Amino acid sequence: MSTGDRDARPAATGAAAGQAGAPRPPADPARIERAATISFRRPTEGDYLRVVGVVDDWWDGRSLHLLLPRLWFQHFTGTSWIAEDESGRLAGFLVGFHSPDDPSIAYCHMIAADPNLRGVGLGRRLYQHFFDDARAVGAHEVHAITWPGNRRSVAFHLALGFRLEIGPDTQNLYGTPSVPGYDYGTEDRVRFVRSV
Ligand SMILES: CC(C)(COP(=O)(O)OP(=O)(O)OC[C@H]1O[C@@H](n2cnc3c(N)ncnc32)[C@H](O)[C@@H]1OP(=O)(O)O)[C@@H](O)C(=O)NCCC(=O)NCCS
Repeated sequence: MSTGDRDARPAATGAAAGQAGAPRPPADPARIERAATISFRRPTEGDYLRVVGVVDDWWDGRSLHLLLPRLWFQHFTGTSWIAEDESGRLAGFLVGFHSPDDPSIAYCHMIAADPNLRGVGLGRRLYQHFFDDARAVGAHEVHAITWPGNRRSVAFHLALGFRLEIGPDTQNLYGTPSVPGYDYGTEDRVRFVRSV
């Protein structure tokens, strides 16, 4: 997995930044219309190939599909969500779980919306389902991490009420308090926590 130039950590721009930070144009009516038809359900193993098949594209061409092996669609379907439009086309997904070690925590591993359906509340609705699941089992917090260069993801999580987990191990990377080398000793991550 390549998530950026760790030494330089430049101010991310354009696709590398996930188009983040820049003012978002108003959603076009066709997008709003399609979004209105979206329904949500639990994934099955049968969804696996079509979901993993969009990962690299939906993450702006970054090669991230290795973060989503089939096991997520075998053992975590009861805590994950698929969004589809009325024709059954994949509109978004959230893959997450409730921590076996700490039942007060639910963890979102990956969330994404079809690039043609962004900015109309789909990501928010996916998380809403996940928050409801967490509350239903008595969890109090939802945790997530993201690459600090993915400014769209940072803005999205902050807009949804997540706070940054800042500590002695964090430093400003791409303008956001992050843990250098959080994963594998080489991959920087922002830590998010939200009460539910
Ligand atoms: C991050 C992502 C899931 C957001 O999905 P979305 O459906 O466009 O988000 P929503 O429309 O529900 O937006 C919810 C809030 O997030 C914020 N937000 C979303 N995208 C944003 C962007 N590009 N820039 C700034 N803020 C943004 C907005 O404040 C929005 O609130 P608003 O409706 O009041 O404007 C989507 O951009 C995506 O799939 N990105 C690629 C995958 C990824 O990076 N996932 C996160 C890491 S796992």
